[in-house]
Amino acid sequence: MRIIETNSYAEMSRLAAGILGAQVLLKPDCVLGLATGSSPIGAYARLAEDCAAGLLDFSQVRTVNLDEYVGLGPEDPQSYRYFMEQNLFSRVNILPENTHLPNGCAADLPAECARYEALIDSLGGADLQLLGIGHNGHIGFNEPGPDFPRCVHPVALTESTIRANSRLFPRIEDVPTQALTMGIGTILKARRILLIAGADKGDIIHRALFGPITPQVPASVLQLHPDVTVIRATA
Ligand code: GLP
Repeated sequence: MRIIETNSYAEMSRLAAGILGAQVLLKPDCVLGLATGSSPIGAYARLAEDCAAGLLDFSQVRTVNLDEYVGLGPEDPQSYRYFMEQNLFSRVNILPENTHLPNGCAADLPAECARYEALIDSLGGADLQLLGIGHNGHIGFNEPGPDFPRCVHPVALTESTIRANSRLFPRIEDVPTQALTMGIGTILKARRILLIAGADKGDIIHRALFGPITPQVPASVLQLHPDVTVIRATA
């Protein structure tokens, strides 16, 4: 595991965009695993700038996102599909049909989870998976629990995650209580992992990277992956 410490969000974003961009340059038809949240916004903005400047070409890139809220459609400004369109997809030359998220409005959620897992496999898995981390150590929406979930699955969000994510909703009651997420097994199948964490995540990053490997801190499982880079802003 490589741990890179930076002293600002801007520097963290610059480095993360560099690694994501290098992946696209190395393998123009790569599969990028993508994340939502505040942490990747700066990196996505830099990728969009590099694409506009002709330095990066997303025309063959495929993407698979970690997760999506249950019940929010693509037009809903709080959905992760909407977030991705706003922050990345509409700003680079990626083909819409090459961008994938779980469908949180599917009538049959277990079937949708199986479809999404199979889709990721059919693309050959992620070459590089970008991750943020929740204050309770969640990655994707894999919340602390008794075991490490293997595959894409529906989850009930914990109260702390609902509270944390309510900052982006008009009212806490509007935050969905369920989501579909890649499992820990799905995430670990990525060939390389890039975890980014802002200055507010110092404690949980320390527990996840240096503490015991336990499903009570889902990100601690990353200690078992052979190719993880962590970029952490300390201020
Ligand atoms: C959400 C997402 C996670 C993300 C986390 C941290 O719960 N499902 O994938 O890592 O938030 O978000 P932020 O980067 O805003 O702190």
